[in-house]
Amino acid sequence: MQALLQQTAAMAAAYLRELPDRRVAPSEEAVAALAGFQEPMPEEPSDALAVIERLHRVGSPATTGMPGPRFFGFVIGGSLPAALAANWLATAWDQCPGLFIASPVATALEEVALGWLLDVLRLPAGSGAAFVTGATVANFTALAAARHTVLAKAGWDVEADGLFGAPPIRVVISEEAHPSVIKSLGLLGLGRSRVQRVPVDGQGRMRAAEMPRLNGPAIVCLQAGNVNTGAFDPAAEICARAKDAGAWVHVDGAFGLWAAASPELAHLVAGVEQADSWATDAHKWLNVPYDSGLAFVRDPMMLRGAMSLVAPYLPRGEHREPSLFTPELSRRARGVDIWAALVSLGRSGLAEMIERNCRQARRFAQGLRAAGFAILNNVVLNQVLVSFGDAARTHEVIRRIQEEGTCWCGPTEWQGQTAMRISVSNWSTTDDDVDRSIAAIVRCAGV
Ligand SMILES: Cc1ncc(COP(=O)(O)O)c(C=O)c1O
Repeated sequence: MQALLQQTAAMAAAYLRELPDRRVAPSEEAVAALAGFQEPMPEEPSDALAVIERLHRVGSPATTGMPGPRFFGFVIGGSLPAALAANWLATAWDQCPGLFIASPVATALEEVALGWLLDVLRLPAGSGAAFVTGATVANFTALAAARHTVLAKAGWDVEADGLFGAPPIRVVISEEAHPSVIKSLGLLGLGRSRVQRVPVDGQGRMRAAEMPRLNGPAIVCLQAGNVNTGAFDPAAEICARAKDAGAWVHVDGAFGLWAAASPELAHLVAGVEQADSWATDAHKWLNVPYDSGLAFVRDPMMLRGAMSLVAPYLPRGEHREPSLFTPELSRRARGVDIWAALVSLGRSGLAEMIERNCRQARRFAQGLRAAGFAILNNVVLNQVLVSFGDAARTHEVIRRIQEEGTCWCGPTEWQGQTAMRISVSNWSTTDDDVDRSIAAIVRCAGV
């Protein structure tokens, strides 16, 4: 075991060492070589080191350089060194953190991390949380707590009786709500289409004045960080309107919530703390390894009401029992790498990383604008939308940049225009990486 892990660590270290110098997208040959995995399941056992060597030889070249400094697609963070190493150690521990008695260390670290997260994200102390796979499940989890609460207030026990015959819940989202919110509403029986959608402005922010009048059980979903523009819904105004009507407010802040960790950017999340629940990702801007999402709920008992389960073989102690707050009973110990990331960065390091990525997004916008290309959004956070002309031309530039390999950016549609999306979310990205990427994009757009 020891030799195997040491040799695996050496392969992983070599992979990460080479990452900044390799093409970001894998080569066609590397992808074609994956066909070698298509074989019948072996009848006989194999040597563990041979398994790993093959994985590294065939698998590593066919990865996209997502943890590297010039991957700007989707919203993808890398892995901070301490978070990656903690993740390895936690994997060796192989702890199931559902109950304190099952894993005191994983449970304790999760609780410490929770307190720090609430503090650094400027959310109400004492809120409950679920450590889940990602923001999609965090949205689902928080909205389950919302459904529990608004129906309980109307005298209905949704966990016991389901939605058959339940009082109707009015659900309000913006035209720009992330698809994961809509999917979550579908999973919860609240309907993907049975929602009221509020129009947005040119940056994708909900027009609060156009919110419908609320009465009875109601859930309002707002967004901190639009996946295209990075813009924030006007949380203070929306919360004030919703609270007056007794509605539950949920915030999807998959990456934007991290603006709260920076004194320079915290104004963007003003009012968000008045909501009832929040979803975010640690695998995005906290730069811990996949997968790691967080659902926070102001009143922990409402989260517990939606998520708890009882069985005689699952003893409960005096401690916080994580599985009372999560959709899963068994899962990995996500609190460990989150704790390690927060300790290794400290409050100042976290703020610096978030601010640096935002500054780098502005650097992208300035460089590309100076080269004559249109920037379609106000770059308030870490997202930049670039147009190179019509849709066909923009898609062609994106194809070329992915093929050229210096960096990786993907396409999107923004209010009727095709754009290239640049998302800067990696701890290891330097200004030089940005300048090299701008030069490559300009080259690709000029050919
Ligand atoms: C605003 C927003 N919400 C939710 C999600 C879904 O997050 P995940 O892919 O971690 O489930 C994303 C992903 O980019 C997002 O940007």
